[in-house]
Amino acid sequence: MSHIVNLVTFDEKIEVGPDETILEIALEENISYPYGCASGNCGACKSRLILGNVEMRSHSSFALTDDERARGIILACRAEPRSDCTLAVMNYDDALSHPLKQLQGEVISVQKLTHDIAAIRLRLSEPLEYTAGQFASVAFPGFPARDYSFATPPMDNEIEFHIRRMGDQGVSAFVFDELEVGELVAVHGPKGFAFLREQETGPIFAVAGGSGLAPIRAILTAALNHSKTTQRPINLWFGARTESDIYLEEELKALQSACPSFKADIVLSEATDDSLRRTGLVTEAIRSDLEKLGTQALDGARAYLAGPPKMVEAAQEIFTAAGLDNSRIHADAFYTEEDKAALDITR
Ligand code: FES
Repeated sequence: MSHIVNLVTFDEKIEVGPDETILEIALEENISYPYGCASGNCGACKSRLILGNVEMRSHSSFALTDDERARGIILACRAEPRSDCTLAVMNYDDALSHPLKQLQGEVISVQKLTHDIAAIRLRLSEPLEYTAGQFASVAFPGFPARDYSFATPPMDNEIEFHIRRMGDQGVSAFVFDELEVGELVAVHGPKGFAFLREQETGPIFAVAGGSGLAPIRAILTAALNHSKTTQRPINLWFGARTESDIYLEEELKALQSACPSFKADIVLSEATDDSLRRTGLVTEAIRSDLEKLGTQALDGARAYLAGPPKMVEAAQEIFTAAGLDNSRIHADAFYTEEDKAALDITR
């Protein structure tokens, strides 16, 4: 049985059927509902249930605590209505208002960054407004759309994505092995709420794993452009498995030279014995560094996290335990198609 959901934030009513979530239908109706992971892990779709009942699919306690649930707060991406409902998006003032666009892009370069990550640059049919940290759905010819984060701050009508090869078949293998300059690609965006809060000047703690460096690089570049005069403290931890998984290192060094308040740490989880790098789990490096920095370093800070879900979830817990409020932690976990199927993620 379907139920009517009144979304007071948007002055819109939607009809949500059985086995459908409020977020799924809101997005189908082109409502700019805030969301990130669409899987109950980031908290970006947090909403206040004013009237009615919903059943919540599984979610992490980072995204929604038991106390919040008891206070009538829900996650739209996990909520199936069990009656007609009325709800309001929380923290909506924090959201962006870039128009969602469907554009065509032409591939203008394909560059291998590592053995399994390629940078794809597209020239769009018209400029796309977005904020560093957001993503778009991208459909390569003959393949279903996939979500990729913008790897740079906005640049006229060019955009760049970093795509990691996930196996020998599918869209990532096609992009890595066969995509050629001149191909036409469909781009739908911008999307996502793990974006840089550009007007702030507080410290930034950024964590990237693998190709999660793409949105983090966009965030850092934009923040460092703004902070040339403010010298805001910016810390990056980039976790990679081996030396061959490191990329953009020269660019990170150049950013450090240009801005002394920016510190970048590369941490290898599977380093060789003779490696001169920092080694171990990137999350352990973060925990140790935060202990040394002390709680005052978190005053007015934001954390931006992007990469594999396990790393993102572990980093979320570390920042929360260190005293950073959940609302100041912005996570972009990169779920594989297998992850999504297992979690019943529709994004
Ligand atoms: S928790 Fe709903 S979008 Fe992430």
